Amino acid sequence: MHTPIQLFDPASSTYTYLIWDEASFEAIIIDPVDTQLQRDLVVISERGLKLKYIVETHAHADHITSAAQLIELTGAQAATPAGCGIKPSAIQLQDGQVLQFGGESFKALHTPGHTAGSMSFVWRDHVFTGDTLLIGGCGRTDFQSGSAAALYRSLTQVLLNLPDHTTVWPGHDYKGQTHSSIAQEKISNLRLIVDGRLRTEAEFITLMDGLQLPRPKRIDEAVPANLSLGVRHDAYERHAALTQPQVPKQAGYAGDISPQLAYQWWQSGEAVLIDIRSAAERAWVGFIPNVPGIEFKIWPGMAINPEYEAQLQAAMQGKPKGSKVMLLCRSGIRSIPAAQRAQALGFEAYNILEGFEGDPDAQAHRNTVGGWRARGLPWAQN
Ligand SMILES: [Fe+2]
Repeated sequence: MHTPIQLFDPASSTYTYLIWDEASFEAIIIDPVDTQLQRDLVVISERGLKLKYIVETHAHADHITSAAQLIELTGAQAATPAGCGIKPSAIQLQDGQVLQFGGESFKALHTPGHTAGSMSFVWRDHVFTGDTLLIGGCGRTDFQSGSAAALYRSLTQVLLNLPDHTTVWPGHDYKGQTHSSIAQEKISNLRLIVDGRLRTEAEFITLMDGLQLPRPKRIDEAVPANLSLGVRHDAYERHAALTQPQVPKQAGYAGDISPQLAYQWWQSGEAVLIDIRSAAERAWVGFIPNVPGIEFKIWPGMAINPEYEAQLQAAMQGKPKGSKVMLLCRSGIRSIPAAQRAQALGFEAYNILEGFEGDPDAQAHRNTVGGWRARGLPWAQN
């Protein structure tokens, strides 16, 4: 049986993990980072993995998750600790809850302390500890509903009670260490052990309360975004004001364009507008009259449409090379790879920000936070 794939984000020293069932290739990703999305997608596709769940150990303060993007691009579901209040997640994990992937089991353990909702996860003889237990250390408890007393109990009564040979995979490491074991932490974790004995709860609380750590640099932007699985709602005001396409972060397509500007370009004939959502989405959610639909992914299963390129070329028949084409999806994420493929065919391809439905709001409902519909642009329903 394989060990987890451990991936590292140097900017935040965050570890992301991939585990899978070797018969079905169903997979779980733990704590993915937004800036590493393309890397993670390459690893997933190279290994032939079918991502089933995107799991967060807690609502992070030091990086933004790529969960919302992974949902859109892979069809996986988000599973996050119920106590973290990440409302758009499909699965609100309770203590002891087990996720199945293929024939494998992945068990959630509520380990509060770093944050009130924090969880650790056990798979076979591995434990993913997030910021609860780090190698030789533990997460801070001085912000974000943290509690040193709760952390002491999570460490000593939950995690250190796992079998000694259990491999510990932390959420971060700042010294290049990759993993540890419960046995090793029982003897060498300096937050817990002093003079060869376990600190008392009172000693641990005094130590944690005296740490005087600097405030996390990205807490004000990262925590609100992570409560929405990585969606940054502050972006919508800027989108609305865009009078020019934005240069995309990822190479490979011409730019990101707001729904309003896409509407203008479509009306003036400056660019062709194509709806790349599945036929099911167009039928159930709504469509834009007189706009061709070319599926980028096909429902159910959301496999990439093998005819996408051919159908796009047919739709652009008679247009010169370099003509502008704008791709619309549900939320402006699937349309990025669709735009990259259109650009590779020789068109000037734009991703329409926010998509048709925008992003989930705090109640996980769409069509209120950005998107073609919520922006008041024309659409219809059968
Ligand atoms: Fe954290």
